[in-house]
Amino acid sequence: TAEAQRLKSLPKAEVHLHLEGCFDATVIAQWAKLEGVVLPRPREDLFKFSGLADFLGFLDLACGLASTKERLVELSYGLSQRLADNGTGYADVIFNPTHWHAWQGRLGVMLEAIDAGFKEAEQDGLPTVGLCVSLLRTQSAEAAVELVESLSAMRHPRVVALSVDGNEATAGRTGPRFAEAFRRAGHAGLRRTVHAGESSGPEGVWDAVTLLGADRIDHGVRAIEDASLVEMLANRRIPLGVCPTSNLVLGVYPSIQEHPMERLRQAGVLVSVNTDDPALLGTSLMEEYRLCRQAFGWTDDVTKAMAHTSIEASFANVTVKAHLL
Ligand code: HPA
Ligand code: ZN
Repeated sequence: TAEAQRLKSLPKAEVHLHLEGCFDATVIAQWAKLEGVVLPRPREDLFKFSGLADFLGFLDLACGLASTKERLVELSYGLSQRLADNGTGYADVIFNPTHWHAWQGRLGVMLEAIDAGFKEAEQDGLPTVGLCVSLLRTQSAEAAVELVESLSAMRHPRVVALSVDGNEATAGRTGPRFAEAFRRAGHAGLRRTVHAGESSGPEGVWDAVTLLGADRIDHGVRAIEDASLVEMLANRRIPLGVCPTSNLVLGVYPSIQEHPMERLRQAGVLVSVNTDDPALLGTSLMEEYRLCRQAFGWTDDVTKAMAHTSIEASFANVTVKAHLL
């Protein structure tokens, strides 16, 4: 349709997208068969999740199947193809080493394999990707510092940020546990992004900013429950990587009408539109834009401004940003 064409050609970036969320059902079924792994549900129900905990458990299973370098290359190349299909010029991609069981203790080799897929994609004219290497919310302070020290020693040009994801509801309030790791990441020249205000309330967002020095918040939508937090995010221009469908599928909000995206935008918070885990959640970046335009009545000018914010909020280097803007 004409609207789809316009959304595709809109210059935009994606800032909240997990490598772990880009497995197609066919790929999972194929690899599971090869590995002799029995899937937890029939194929047609494979992606029916009961909530974030169930979803995160499934990530472990899916990522566990990616046991060879070729499979990692296929996944990262496929992600770039997905970006191109949506007219996304750049993406910050979150990658959490803890989910990938075949690669434990081999972060360097794993990063090289993922990087190889992205490089091949770039050489074929597909979009550029930066990696945000992620801690899992349940990890220890020591494990967090160890990850940052490995990243500092490698100085891999693909890695642009340190991230935290996982379940804040089951892990409990993390407080300052990752403060030292984030401080060191900043020193090593990495940007900082934190999942908060999804499985946590506003207190998780406060902690991300005040204790971890977050440059950006992944989700952050439950900030709406605290007016002083909304004001702080707007004043300090800390962007939120919002994922509407993810919040609906994983039960953060019962309907798009109740989703706070539009109220946050009108309060002056820098919100952007993202997919989180497009394959597993059955969405695409164009579909997220379409959903927001329909639900919130965004005009073409608002849509353009949102796409502009996504580029500004990204960790793309100045050359890539200038090219997109
Ligand atoms: N929240 C927490 N952890 C995650 C998510 C999410 O939306 N997606 C992948 N890991
Ligand atoms: Zn996420």
